[in-house]
Amino acid sequence: MRPASSVIYLDWNATTPPHPEVLAAMQAAAEVAWANPASVHGPGRRARAFVEQAREAVARLTGFDARDVTFTSGGTEANNLALGHAFGDEAGALVVSRIEHPSVTRAAEGLAGRGVHVAWVDPEPSGRVAPEAIADAIDRAAAVAPVRLVSLQAVNHETGVVQPVAEAAAIVHARRARLHVDAVQAVGRLPPEAWAGADLVSVAAHKIRGPKGIGALAVRPGLRLRPVLLGGAQERGMRPGTQDPLAAAGFAVAARRAIDAPARYAALAPLRDRLEAALTQVGRAAGAAPLRNGDGARAPHVTNLSWPGWRGDELCAALDLEGVAASSGAACSAGTAEPSPVLTAMLGPERAASAVRFSIGEDTTETDLAEAALRMARVLSRLRSLPARS
Ligand SMILES: Cc1ncc(COP(=O)(O)O)c(C=O)c1O
Repeated sequence: MRPASSVIYLDWNATTPPHPEVLAAMQAAAEVAWANPASVHGPGRRARAFVEQAREAVARLTGFDARDVTFTSGGTEANNLALGHAFGDEAGALVVSRIEHPSVTRAAEGLAGRGVHVAWVDPEPSGRVAPEAIADAIDRAAAVAPVRLVSLQAVNHETGVVQPVAEAAAIVHARRARLHVDAVQAVGRLPPEAWAGADLVSVAAHKIRGPKGIGALAVRPGLRLRPVLLGGAQERGMRPGTQDPLAAAGFAVAARRAIDAPARYAALAPLRDRLEAALTQVGRAAGAAPLRNGDGARAPHVTNLSWPGWRGDELCAALDLEGVAASSGAACSAGTAEPSPVLTAMLGPERAASAVRFSIGEDTTETDLAEAALRMARVLSRLRSLPARS
């Protein structure tokens, strides 16, 4: 058993601890798969086998054909590749929700700078993007330019709110556009229905207990990607650069494990609910019950709470001193003074500035969560006793 004073990791949405089987596979691959997987000789072919096994595993996880899986450096690059594919020299319109990960919203802004018409879709206060709002945005954008792509994530990275992807897919396809789904926070947590109907799907290995630095974009057959990088013929020229067989070995194991992980994640919902209840009690005792950000259907492992009167980044810093790793926004935005754009779009800047996200995973125990709530109580009483800042 872990000592109570050790760090309690409640930031599984930022990244997951690599699974021991993943580490073992990478270690084993390091011995035999150091050659360049593009080389045609024996050592090269041996290295290439690891890359192709990973491709098969990712194809099975996502429900796509292995031929249509392109490896990238992670979710960010997969999202950039997906958005970029639809817009070359032709003009066109992109419809994108305001609660996407920055690797989608910033890529959309980049496309807008190149003349693509970008129509933004606001979320409901619940954190869900309504299918009707997507339909409306497509219809309005179509009056300006042909809508080539709609991008909607499967599960929000900050609130865990599940988005209506299948309904959105029907709307998008009826209007002859394509749907990109950022499933980085959905694979391994929810079954494939969460990205049903998607034409392009982004995933990242490190969110499913695989290594960092590798992800993939899976696309419907026949769909041509427009490379972001220019170079050799790797990944059929869609993503040039020498592939990493070690990362691929880890991704293969992580993707295979992720196929039945949703059942393990479903069992986490009661733990997440107990954590929420304990934190609410602790907040109430300290004079401010937290408010939950994200209603309705949520993935089972995330809770995002705003603490009126407190700042989320200060709470996270104080929790860190107590040995609890949580987050006040997406990890990629951490260190910026900006409140979360996701929560701002849902509920306004004050609610965003006081938010803390707790995300749990397969290894989290009830004991961890009870101890985390006790540590939160200590944090609140310590911060309350500090003189108010002007
Ligand atoms: C929903 C979502 N999309 C994309 C990404 C980016 O993935 P990566 O960190 O692998 O670049 C993240 C990472 O937090 C994410 O949560």
